[in-house]
Amino acid sequence: MVNVGIVGASGYTGGELLRLLLSRQDISVTLATSRKHNGEYVFRVHPNLKSITTLKFSNPSIDNIAKSCDYVFLAVPHGSAVNLVPKLLEVGLKVIDLSADFRLKDPKDYEKWYKFKHPFPDLLEKAVYGLPELHFDEIRKASLVANPGCTSTATILSLAPLVKNNLIDAERIIVDVKIGSSGVGGSPSIFSHHPERTYVVRPYQVASHRHTAEVEQELKRISNKNVKIGMTPHAVDIVRGILSTSYGFTNEKIQLSQIWHAYREAYNGRKFIRLVKDVQGLEKLPDPKYVVGSNFCDIGFELDERFGRIIAFSAIDNLMKGASGQAVQNLNIMLGLDETTGLLIPSLHPV
Ligand SMILES: NC(=O)c1ccc[n+]([C@@H]2O[C@H](COP(=O)([O-])OP(=O)(O)OC[C@H]3O[C@@H](n4cnc5c(N)ncnc54)[C@H](OP(=O)(O)O)[C@@H]3O)[C@@H](O)[C@H]2O)c1
Repeated sequence: MVNVGIVGASGYTGGELLRLLLSRQDISVTLATSRKHNGEYVFRVHPNLKSITTLKFSNPSIDNIAKSCDYVFLAVPHGSAVNLVPKLLEVGLKVIDLSADFRLKDPKDYEKWYKFKHPFPDLLEKAVYGLPELHFDEIRKASLVANPGCTSTATILSLAPLVKNNLIDAERIIVDVKIGSSGVGGSPSIFSHHPERTYVVRPYQVASHRHTAEVEQELKRISNKNVKIGMTPHAVDIVRGILSTSYGFTNEKIQLSQIWHAYREAYNGRKFIRLVKDVQGLEKLPDPKYVVGSNFCDIGFELDERFGRIIAFSAIDNLMKGASGQAVQNLNIMLGLDETTGLLIPSLHPV
């Protein structure tokens, strides 16, 4: 039995980790923290877990975590994991951090994109970017996994085969993202207040989204080229789900078969990647509606020969492949299990 703790278990990604882990026979969730809900039953905050667990929230303390866990998930806001991680590693725990605090390799990128000086640049070196489709072998041996962002996961997975095979100009890629309301977490604000959030198609951080940094970092690594991404996200009126649409401009005349080949070669045998490009049925190209509740990333594409561009789409559930599902996939890999253990759940239909 593996003992697992979740710091930040009252939030949306923490709740999703509980949903995925509480039904596992090989894992015991020994700790779920919340400072606001200390002492309360977990099901009072996550009603979907009623009759599933009698676990109560506790305060996050390094002593308690060290005593009760072998592996710990940090499902806390950016900036809150950075000081916890070194202490947890010091007492021999393995850490999967869902925040952005250890995703970027270059400390200067934290100053540029997150406006803070990273206090542990040596740990940035040590952290493994937790995208299993690109870093499987490193994740297996990692003590610290930096779980990717949700928009980054969707965008990197749809673009990686294109930049790797030099099918598009890596220095001029436009990315348009649509994201559901759970993407900003459970803390309410005027922007998430129901009358203000319902019906929106709202562009935000249109030229400065922080996930741009990790997308560029990973695509540079895979292509050995300079990569430039112009990303514009939009908040849309769904609760879960992301659709990432990327426009890449072709370097020369190419055939559709070359694009098929690039995706098939990149994701052959990868269980959570589904290539979706159909002429029949409801899902002809990726649509977040068909991944809700699952760990799948649906990827599709089209070639616009007139314009010389490839349009690449990917759809994920931001709380699953975009966060907690991927974090559990990483745990499985670290434990030497089949990466799909407990995760081959079909999406809900209809939602
Ligand atoms: N939501 C998504 O779709 C998504 C996707 C990918 C990645 N992420 C990342 O995952 C992390 C969690 O996101 P979320 O959406 O689950 O956020 P959330 O719903 O706001 O939950 C945050 C959790 O962290 C706890 N917390 C806050 N400050 C803390 C601190 N200083 N020390 C310990 N615990 C603290 C909160 O509980 P208490 O305040 O009661 O302790 C709560 O349980 C974030 O870094 C986020 O960027 C989120």
